[in-house]
Amino acid sequence: MCWIFAYMWEKEATSFLLNWLRKLEYRWYDSAWIVEINNAWDFYLEKSVWKVWNLVNLVEKNEKDLTNYHIWIAHTRWATHGWVTLENCHPHYSLNKRFFLVHNGIIENYIELKKSLIKDWYTFYGDTDSEVLVKLIEKYFEKDLEYTIKKITKILEWAYAIAVIDRENPDVLVWAKIGSPLVLGFGQKEFFLSSDPNALNQTCNNFIPLEDGEIVIIKDNNFNIFNFNNELLADKEYHEFEEMEEERWKWDYAHYMLKEIYEIPYIFKNAIAWRINYEKDEIKSNTLAKLTQENIKKIEIIASWTSYNAGLTAATWFEELADLPTQVHMSTEFKYKKHFINQKTLYVFISQSGETADSLECLKIVKNKWGLTFWVVNVVWSSIARLTDMWLYTHSWTEIWVASTKAFIGQLTVLLLMSLALWNSRNLEYLKYKEIIWALENFDEKINEVLKRADKIKAIALRYSDYKNMFFLGRNLLYPIAMEWSLKLKEITYHHSEAYSSGELKHGPLSLIEENFPTVLLNPKTKLYDKNISTLKEVGAREWKVIWFITDWDKNKDLYTDIVEIPDTIEELTPFLLATTLDLFAYYIALNLWREIDKPRNLAKSVTVE
Ligand code: M6R
Repeated sequence: MCWIFAYMWEKEATSFLLNWLRKLEYRWYDSAWIVEINNAWDFYLEKSVWKVWNLVNLVEKNEKDLTNYHIWIAHTRWATHGWVTLENCHPHYSLNKRFFLVHNGIIENYIELKKSLIKDWYTFYGDTDSEVLVKLIEKYFEKDLEYTIKKITKILEWAYAIAVIDRENPDVLVWAKIGSPLVLGFGQKEFFLSSDPNALNQTCNNFIPLEDGEIVIIKDNNFNIFNFNNELLADKEYHEFEEMEEERWKWDYAHYMLKEIYEIPYIFKNAIAWRINYEKDEIKSNTLAKLTQENIKKIEIIASWTSYNAGLTAATWFEELADLPTQVHMSTEFKYKKHFINQKTLYVFISQSGETADSLECLKIVKNKWGLTFWVVNVVWSSIARLTDMWLYTHSWTEIWVASTKAFIGQLTVLLLMSLALWNSRNLEYLKYKEIIWALENFDEKINEVLKRADKIKAIALRYSDYKNMFFLGRNLLYPIAMEWSLKLKEITYHHSEAYSSGELKHGPLSLIEENFPTVLLNPKTKLYDKNISTLKEVGAREWKVIWFITDWDKNKDLYTDIVEIPDTIEELTPFLLATTLDLFAYYIALNLWREIDKPRNLAKSVTVE
C-alpha cells in the first residue's frame, strides 16, 4: 500500500520530487525511491528504506547530470507483502530490466501467478506482489505496454494503480487503475500522476480523477485515456482545485499531533460556521435540506475504526434526537455480511481520507442495490466522495499525523448537524432542539478552555505513562469516546488498553483490575452519572486507581485517585470536550515514553488496500 507520484516534462525535477516525498511521507513511510529516465535509454535510480531523509542523503551525493531527463517517478511504501528491504522497495523491474513498475494496491492472486511464473523459469529477488506484476508484463509483452497491460488485467484479482515505463520506448508513460486511487493533473505542458489528489493542489490547476478500468497513455506532450475495452474516453471531465492548500508546517509545535489538537476549536467552528443560522435556529445546508426530503425510516452507518467510533457516537444522536433507529457496521465486517439494502434506509459512510478500500467496497455494494448513500468525508475529490449520492465535507483540512484528532471532531460536528436537521424536519421537541443550537454557538470557546488546561492534563498523564494496561470506561454517548481513546493510546504509546461500557465491567473484565491496571472513567454530567458512581464504587472498593474525567460541577471529587475536569456543557456536546481532553492525555503519555508520535510504528494514514 503505497503512494505513487509521477511527473513528465522536460526539466530537472529531483528536488521537486523529494519535496513531494517529504510532504506526503506522513501517509506511508516504510521506504521511498525515485527514478528519472531520459531519451537515451539511460536512467538514474535511487532507493532507500525507512524514512525519506535517507533517500535525500543519497540523492544529494549524486553527481550525474540529470538536466535532459524527462520522466520522474517517486514512491513511498507501506509494507503489505514482504518486509521493509531494498529488494521489496519499488520500482520493481523485469528480468531483462526493460520494464519498471510502481504499484499501489494488493494483487490477491499473486501467489498463484508467481508459481506459474516460476514454472516458466522466472526468478524473484523479493517477496512483493508488485514484482509479480512487472514479471507478468515481461512474460505477456506483445506490441506495446498499453496492449500488454490490458491483456494482463484479465488475470489480476483486485486492486492496483500502476505506472509503468518501457525503456525501449522511454518517451511513453502508461498508468492504469482498478480499486486504488489515481489522479491525472495538468500544468503547462506538464503531466502529473498521484495517488492522492491533495498532493496536486497548488501544483496544477486542473485534474481528472481516474475511474476503475481506465488506462492513461502519455506520449508526445499529449495524453489519452482508454478503458480496458480499448475505447478512447475523449470526454472526461476536468476539475479545478477549489480550495487553497492549508498550512502544513508544524510551526513551534513539537509534533503535528499537538498542532492538530490545537486546531480543533477552529475546525469545529469551521464545520458549523456557515451551516447554522443562529438567529433563525436553522441549519443552512442545501445537502441537508435535500436529505430531509427523503423518506428515511432507518440509518445504517458504515466506517472503519476512528470513523466507526464517530458513527457509534452519532448513532445515539440519530436515535435520541432524530428518533431514527440506527445500526453501525465496521466496513471490514459489512462487506461479508448478508445485506438487506432497501430504499427506506439511509446508508451513511464516514471517512477522513475518502480512500479507505474497505469502506469503498461497501459503498459499491450499497450502490449496486440502489441504496441511498451519504458520505461524511474530509478529502475533497476523494474516490468515495465522487461515488456517493450526497456528501458533506468535514472541512478539517489535511490531517498529517496518522491517528485522527481534529478529523474526528470534524466528523462528529457534521454528524451532529445531520441529526439536528433530520430532527427539525420531523418536528420533534423544538425546545430541546433550540437548546442544542444555542449551546453550539460559541462552543469553540469551551473547547479552547480544555486546551488552556493542557498543563493539568499533562501532569496527570505523566503519572500514568508507565502503566502497560489501562481500561477506558464510558456509557451511552461516551462509550464510543472511551473506545476511540483506547485505540488512540494503543496507536501512539504501544501500551495495551481496552474500552468497555462502564456497566459491563462487573460482567467480567473487573477480574483483570489490580494495582497496576488503572481505569479511566468518563463521567461528566449526564443522565448516567449515578450509574457511573456505582462503577466507581466497584473499582474504588478494591482500592484501585481511577482517573475520572468529570465536569467542573462534580461534587464527588474526593472519590477519585485523580481527576481531569472539563467545562460544564449539555450532555449532547460532552463528546467534543472529552475527545479533546483525551487527545491531550494520550499525547502526553506518548511524549513521556519518547514515542515517534506522528509516525507510529506499522501504521499508515490512508488504508487503500483491503
Ligand atoms: O480515512 P478513514 O476515516 O476511512 O480511515 C479509517 C481508519 O483507517 C482510521 O480512522 C484509523 O483508524 C485512524 N488511524 C485512527 O486514528
